[in-house]
Amino acid sequence: MKLEGKIAYVTGAASGIGEAVATRFLAEGAVVAAIDRDAERLSALAEAHGAAGERLSTTVLDVVDEEAVAASLDALVAAHGRVDCAVNCAGILGPTGPLHETDTAAYRALMANNLDGIFHCLKHQLRCMHPQGRGSIVNIASAAGIVGFPSAAAYTAAKHGVVGLTRTCAIDYAEQGIRVNAIAPGGIDTPLIRATTCATPEGQAMIESMHPVKRLGTAEEIASAALFLAGDEASFITGAVLAVDGGWTTW
Ligand SMILES: NC(=O)c1ccc[n+]([C@@H]2O[C@H](COP(=O)([O-])OP(=O)(O)OC[C@H]3O[C@@H](n4cnc5c(N)ncnc54)[C@H](O)[C@@H]3O)[C@@H](O)[C@H]2O)c1
Repeated sequence: MKLEGKIAYVTGAASGIGEAVATRFLAEGAVVAAIDRDAERLSALAEAHGAAGERLSTTVLDVVDEEAVAASLDALVAAHGRVDCAVNCAGILGPTGPLHETDTAAYRALMANNLDGIFHCLKHQLRCMHPQGRGSIVNIASAAGIVGFPSAAAYTAAKHGVVGLTRTCAIDYAEQGIRVNAIAPGGIDTPLIRATTCATPEGQAMIESMHPVKRLGTAEEIASAALFLAGDEASFITGAVLAVDGGWTTW
């Protein structure tokens, strides 16, 4: 029970990595506020948790909506007195293909979702944690936040931005006792990758071959890293960008 009594806020919690993080944090004793814009899948998460469900609350919101993000964090603090940790997973792949053929509106929508969304979450998590004098935030970036990712310039730009926000907030809030870290997953077997890169056998083979371990990771492997970084065992770690990528970025 590594998070017994901790109050946690998890975005993108209805699917994939966020769902695995919410599930693992509940199993480790945390109270979890599960955030997602997918109402149906969020209800399924609540139903799946049965007895542990009394420690789970769900809120349907879009992280692009700053006011909704702020209100959900205020509600969590009102209910429990504080927020100890947050894992920001909500994200999409967005437009792919050569940049000169990328629709500008699709680029802007991706940046709003994957970069502004993290900014909104970070801003209001830090606002709530600041008076507490402690807290821990984990942003889910990507291997594409460390190196280039073919045919996904907008996604890669947003994820490099998430890494920049993480490193700067780590410096700015270190003296307030708030740690801010990022995880850079490689290809992870979730609905997102199954619907996009792995939709064809060739795509799946291509992405697997980019990993020295020659396989995709699991959402649970990312949840394990998030548990470590969010919890007290990582008390001297801030500003880190932890590659959990089967060696992808070490080629
Ligand atoms: N799967 C991978 O290979 C991989 C690799 C590196 C990084 N990531 C990152 O991990 C995160 C989670 O991805 P996943 O693979 O679990 O995807 P997923 O599609 O399985 O889950 C993402 C969840 O986020 C929610 N979401 C997306 N945008 C949102 C928004 N604006 N507001 C609220 N909810 C929103 C979706 O509804 C969904 O439930 C993303 O940020 C993604 O970029 C994934």
